[in-house]
Amino acid sequence: MYKTCLLLVLVIGVISRIDATPVNSHRYPSCSGNISATDVDLVQLAMNVEFTEAEFFLKASTGKGLDAFNATLAKGGPAPVGARKANLDPITKRIIEEFGYQEIGHLRAIADMTGGIRRPLLNLTRENFAMFMDRAVGRRSNPRFDPYANTRNYLLASYYIPYVGLTGYVGAIPYLVYFNFKRLVAGLLGVESGQDGVIRTLLYERQDETVEEYGGVTVAELTNEISILRNKLGMCGIKDEGLCVPPWLGAENRTTSNILAADAYSLSYDRTPQEILRVMYGTGDEHRPGGFWPCGANGRIARMFLDKRYYGNCGAC
Ligand SMILES: *[C@@H]1O[C@H](CO)[C@@H](O)[C@H](O)[C@H]1NC(C)=O
Ligand SMILES: *[C@@H]1O[C@H](CO)[C@@H](O)[C@H](O)[C@H]1NC(C)=O
Ligand SMILES: *[C@@H]1O[C@H](CO)[C@@H](O)[C@H](O)[C@H]1NC(C)=O
Ligand SMILES: *[C@@H]1O[C@H](CO)[C@@H](O)[C@H](O)[C@H]1NC(C)=O
Repeated sequence: MYKTCLLLVLVIGVISRIDATPVNSHRYPSCSGNISATDVDLVQLAMNVEFTEAEFFLKASTGKGLDAFNATLAKGGPAPVGARKANLDPITKRIIEEFGYQEIGHLRAIADMTGGIRRPLLNLTRENFAMFMDRAVGRRSNPRFDPYANTRNYLLASYYIPYVGLTGYVGAIPYLVYFNFKRLVAGLLGVESGQDGVIRTLLYERQDETVEEYGGVTVAELTNEISILRNKLGMCGIKDEGLCVPPWLGAENRTTSNILAADAYSLSYDRTPQEILRVMYGTGDEHRPGGFWPCGANGRIARMFLDKRYYGNCGAC
């Protein structure tokens, strides 16, 4: 295991250089979270991530999506596309099922306090995950990467989502004004980071397993590549780290294991609303929807950034 971590350290050194290439070429990206937004706007932006997690976790573990449990939370948003029951081992299934129910609670908490938002169109198809993974690794999977095929693939796909929610909550809290919103987001952050920690621990145990869809790339390497992709899409430096890091990114510069991603003080990284949108759209541009949210995210913040030119085929949603 230690050997894998060391090898990866060399690889990361090379890749992080390529990292600086901007994806978003036509605008200088903002890395300031100080945007004109109310507490309601900020927690409603988070609902987009919570809807995505709810569907992904519930469908994968129970075979049923959010609407089967609470049909009113989506507020008439379009049916999510592509999620399905995953072929999970019994323990992972139980864990993911619990996470799914937790997301329903999170959505209810935000909806009860703010009235909620319409669920955006969610693209949870195998093709969409394969597209993100292919981009992370830099080549096409063969056979195609299927997040629902087995526990390992599902955990790798899960690596993509709660962590984005976590960084968004860390980024939002300093800008919240009211006590009840701070309390809400602190509570959401606690559980979200717990989910991320569990997913990363389960992956850490499998760090040396190879992913045949990518010709024997290990789980640890793949997590690094996903993190590098997210850093690239977010365009605001290192906010994301894989399971094995060079010592200068490890806790107190003393370790290469990296179950929890954090900064030099071992504090969680934060992301702004724009970074969240860039990463989840997969376009590196908060104005240009795609990826998990092909018609754009909902709520005032996301809609404020959305460029109507890219709205194209999404009249229906
Ligand atoms: C955010 O922007 C407002 C208006 O420009 C300014 O008054 C405030 O001090 C800024 N807050 C932070 C934390 O930068
Ligand atoms: C669905 O969530 C809403 C918002 O919290 C709540 O008012 C409603 O009772 C829930 N419905 C069910 C069936 O749990
Ligand atoms: C979902 O993503 C895949 C891969 O990018 C794409 O082929 C498909 O058209 C998308 N589906 C929707 C409904 O946006
Ligand atoms: C770890 O190394 C980095 C870069 O070399 C340095 O900036 C940081 O202060 C070091 N942290 C500790 C706790 O020594």
